[in-house]
Amino acid sequence: MPSLNDIRQTFLDFFARNGHAVVDSSPLVPRNDPTLMFTNSGMVQFKNVFTGLESRPYNRATTAQKCVRAGGKHNDLDNVGYTARHHTFFEMLGNFSFGDYFKSEAIPFAWELLTRDFAIPADRLLVTVYHTDDEAAAIWKKVAGLPDERIIRIPTDDNFWRMGPTGPCGPSTEIFFDHGAEIWGGPPGSPDENGDRFIEIWNLVFMQNEQHADGSMTELPRQSIDTGMGLERIGALLQGKHDNYDTDLMRALIEASANATSTDPDGPGKVHHRVIADHLRSTSFLIADGVMPSNDGRGYVLRRIMRRAMRHAHMLGAQDPVMHRLVPALVRQMGAAYPELTRARATIEETLRLEETRFRQTLERGLRLLDDELNRLPEGAALPGEAAFRLYDTYGFPLDLTQDALRERGQAVDVAGFDAAMAEQKAKARAAWSGSGEAADAAIWFELADRHGATEFLGYDSEASEGAILALVDGGQTVERAGEGERVQIVVNQTPFYAESGGQVGDTGLVKTETGAARVTDTRRMQGVIVHLAEVTLGEIAVGQGAQLSVDSDRRGAIRANHSATHLLNEALRGALGEHVAQKGSLNADDRLRFDFSHGKAVTAEELAAIEAEVNALIRQNAPVETRVMSPEDARELGAQALFGEKYGDEVRVVSMGHREGSEKGANRDTYSIELCGGTHVARTGDIGAFVILGDSASSAGVRRIEAVTGEAALAHLRAAEGRLSEIAGLLKAPVGDVVDRVKALADERRAMAGEIASLKRQLAMGGGGDASPQAREVGGVSFLARRVEGVSGRDLPALVDDMKRSLGSGAVLVLADAGGKAAVAAGVTPDLTGRVSAVDMVRRAAEALGGKGGGGRPDMAQGGAPSLEAADAAIAAVETMIGETA
Ligand code: SER
Repeated sequence: MPSLNDIRQTFLDFFARNGHAVVDSSPLVPRNDPTLMFTNSGMVQFKNVFTGLESRPYNRATTAQKCVRAGGKHNDLDNVGYTARHHTFFEMLGNFSFGDYFKSEAIPFAWELLTRDFAIPADRLLVTVYHTDDEAAAIWKKVAGLPDERIIRIPTDDNFWRMGPTGPCGPSTEIFFDHGAEIWGGPPGSPDENGDRFIEIWNLVFMQNEQHADGSMTELPRQSIDTGMGLERIGALLQGKHDNYDTDLMRALIEASANATSTDPDGPGKVHHRVIADHLRSTSFLIADGVMPSNDGRGYVLRRIMRRAMRHAHMLGAQDPVMHRLVPALVRQMGAAYPELTRARATIEETLRLEETRFRQTLERGLRLLDDELNRLPEGAALPGEAAFRLYDTYGFPLDLTQDALRERGQAVDVAGFDAAMAEQKAKARAAWSGSGEAADAAIWFELADRHGATEFLGYDSEASEGAILALVDGGQTVERAGEGERVQIVVNQTPFYAESGGQVGDTGLVKTETGAARVTDTRRMQGVIVHLAEVTLGEIAVGQGAQLSVDSDRRGAIRANHSATHLLNEALRGALGEHVAQKGSLNADDRLRFDFSHGKAVTAEELAAIEAEVNALIRQNAPVETRVMSPEDARELGAQALFGEKYGDEVRVVSMGHREGSEKGANRDTYSIELCGGTHVARTGDIGAFVILGDSASSAGVRRIEAVTGEAALAHLRAAEGRLSEIAGLLKAPVGDVVDRVKALADERRAMAGEIASLKRQLAMGGGGDASPQAREVGGVSFLARRVEGVSGRDLPALVDDMKRSLGSGAVLVLADAGGKAAVAAGVTPDLTGRVSAVDMVRRAAEALGGKGGGGRPDMAQGGAPSLEAADAAIAAVETMIGETA
């Protein structure tokens, strides 16, 4: 009996043999379609190839595509576990032709594979065609020799496949398997077609039209083929089962669930095991593709699926978390076909364990409350919306989990009442906020958050995606469109643009639609809504349009490098300066990074050099940067550094990078940096390139600030510094290596020359070269020498006074200097006379006569100042008189 893995391989091999490129499944989160929550069929990744927007190096392809149908338009969640063929996760096998072959080859391919490779008896097969498609009917007749009654013409949309309200579409032919008369049901198109006897196994779509928004339909540039066959269905058929859950792969998961809960796989808990097996697949694959449980959008769909599975595990009597223990069984079954599952195994296990541990804390109490409520209700009555809301709000029960729990009792929830309770809570939150005094025009963001929910951020792993324009805002008002030259704020359902937060600046880039383009100059987040601040640069953009969103990639790369370097710097600082270093703020821009931290004194040049060297050593480790989502408690246990002023919800993102030198090799190496962080980071530390500190300065009391550059900016900084050095060497006419010695020599020379100049000036002031001796006057038996000088600074006056005293031998000297528009006064008295005349008195008297006051010093040397030297003669005379009186 072929396993599901064999069947998948046989399918791909068959089409590879027939000239098809075997293409990997695309991720479950479509990057090229804003209208889809999850990839739900094989053609999603080829949508733009069909319409001619995109070309690929092949025109025939085959895939096994991961699909999720939960949330959004296609939602099979409610039926999972209760029916034979509903899944939230399934694999779609497909072959595709892009303008290559068409009906006359697609039909024989399908027939050959089914009847030859899969050896399905031809008489158990029948087909449908679109009622006007004579060509397809004729090909079936010729190729398969099917009688007319087994080529059924269907006039409805069942045989006209559309991917959505717009996009590629075309008539289809479906292949059915007849399970035999012992099972109830009629052929397609008959009143009993919904029975289980005739099961559709393969849908071949003849893609030839494109449906447009205005209702018109045009021909595609090339006729193409898109086929889809559910692996689980064909698997059940080829394994002789009627139920997809009885296939080998699903059975292995069901048995893992039974083992983990020590229950019978086919006993009363049968439905629970089936739900667990299905939900294990969808949750694990979603996590592997980067979806994390959250309270919005895709993350909330994931959370709902996880919590449903957990309730079913609880119903099986499990006392401890179960889901994460089933991951090894899933990896055994599907890891070879989907290596991403193996790669993400640890993340999947950790995410499941965390969610289940946390949800268990409220699950039991919630279920008790539910029981109490139900016991109070009259038989069969619907659960009041209020109660369902309380379960949601207080106990974390998604509405559909409550509905699922009630389904077993044949009861329903008053959904309108639930919605009303939810609306009331939102209104209260808004009222509380509007009382908080924030700007009134921010009300619009509350409204938009209410209407559209939080924006989905795709930018951790992509820089471009499609999004649907949900709103345009101008001056606090929504507008329908914005034209060239207008500034507008753009809201989309999903975006790769990072909104400024945690010190990381907002992204810039381009938003393009069918009719125009806008340049995004900044991105912010308001009430969970990501707001692109933009200017329309071409044509116009309008609400409702699909948009191509692309982030400025080089700029984002530089921001990433700076942000990751900041984490390394934080840790290096703590290592070099001590554990007291705590982050006080940061900026991660494209041109530089800034990091503020608590530290009482300046960081020395040696410390800076050591820190810089350490960060560069971590960069050279080129270690992978790892991101995980966990509970704040777990993160603390890991030793994560919390970001400054950040508020956290239930889960935190933990970014770790690098390892300590000398720590044990392998998985147990000590991680170097572990921080809680919502920002974007490099994939490996080597991507930072290089790290150069620009300087350390004081930011505020007890807080230092380091600025630094990375990557190209670091290189540019070093190159500029080197350029300046070469320029200096050029000016010195010396080799770069001699520059320091030459500058030192120049400084010494300069100092010597300055001394010489001062002494020459003094000599000049003394009467020039010392040849004309100063003229002293005898006053009351004291030699008094007074001089008025120019070009001697106040600083040089004491030396001049000393020279004059020396030349007198015994006496008193007074110098009045013109010091740049002001007057400087100095006086000196030789030691033999200080008992009779005081230099301080002389200076005070002179300053007074010059219109100033004060002055000071010692009896043998004093200095003072005055506004001008205008009254110099009077000042000298006044001092002379004073000496005459006192001496
Ligand atoms: N797109 C079609 C489907 O989903 C055929 O692959 O059924």
